[in-house]
Amino acid sequence: MFTQNSKMEEELTPHSDPSGKLPARDPGTAATTGGTAPIGGVFEAISRGESFVTETHEELAAEDPVVGIEDFDLHYGATQALFGVSMCVPRGKVTALIGPSGCGKSTLLRSVNRMNDLIDGVQTDGKMTLNGDSIYGRKVDVIELRKRIGMVFQKPNPFPMSIYENVIYSLRIDGVRDKNLLDEVCELSLKGAGLWDEVKDRLNSNALRMSGGQQQRLCIARAIAAEPEVLLLDEPCSALDPIATGKIEDLIDQLRGHYSILMVTHNMQQASRTSDYTAFMYLGRLVEYGPTGEIFMQPKLRETEDYVTGRFG
Ligand SMILES: Nc1ncnc2c1ncn2[C@@H]1O[C@H](COP(=O)(O)OP(=O)(O)O)[C@@H](O)[C@H]1O
Ligand SMILES: [Mg+2]
Repeated sequence: MFTQNSKMEEELTPHSDPSGKLPARDPGTAATTGGTAPIGGVFEAISRGESFVTETHEELAAEDPVVGIEDFDLHYGATQALFGVSMCVPRGKVTALIGPSGCGKSTLLRSVNRMNDLIDGVQTDGKMTLNGDSIYGRKVDVIELRKRIGMVFQKPNPFPMSIYENVIYSLRIDGVRDKNLLDEVCELSLKGAGLWDEVKDRLNSNALRMSGGQQQRLCIARAIAAEPEVLLLDEPCSALDPIATGKIEDLIDQLRGHYSILMVTHNMQQASRTSDYTAFMYLGRLVEYGPTGEIFMQPKLRETEDYVTGRFG
């Protein structure tokens, strides 16, 4: 069953000034839909366009970064969507990106595997690395990069072909013909995505006939068949019912350790249940980043507390 999430569609878009520097809309009103907390401090500084340093908890310094992001800006034409984002994505861990709709979560996620290259007028500045290699370097083969950094979107997007062909798609692109190898990768990937038992007897049936939750696990199987170093998940459960959502969350838990996962979620419970680290974004800035338990139970900034306790957003 598919449910449309209206919150995900609504956007708290700051209309930037022509210089792209200042979000014009007052975050005090943008951010308090339905809430009562006065917004000040960090948010006011952000809305005045002042430079702002992320509150990064010290535990992150002990992590081994698979992706490094340094002072990363992104503009869509004249509109700036990311402002000096600096963070690492810890290897083998699940990191959740949270924040109000329109704060730049998807933009940041898409920047990591350069999906934003496909959008006209996008300009980036700053540095991103994958295992120390520049992601935005001139010599980077973007197709190869996207194999190393797989992505799963909000709406499951299986290709209109069989379950089997969906899973081994990246190997077909690479020209792999060894049937035994293809069969093996198909089985391992479907097992890895917790889908094997449900589909092993109908691998040749069309993937579009699967349920939404199965389709999303198939997309995860397709992503892991390429043996990525990082998995990007953009609200992977937002189109799914609670049971299918639970299965994806279990799956994320099982992938922990084998994969480094950066996941956008608008669901606070999901972030607290599934992630090791949580990064709170607001108006294109990374506000606070730390162990999930601390972000939810003892955040360092009042603004983070207001958001995770549902006082705004
Ligand atoms: N393709 C695009 N072209 C122009 N502006 C965009 C595009 N995608 C997103 N934006 C803008 O960038 C900002 C961040 O959007 P997005 O990354 O989608 O936020 P989130 O995922 O947190 O809801 C918003 O102001 C949005 O309107
Ligand atoms: Mg988004």
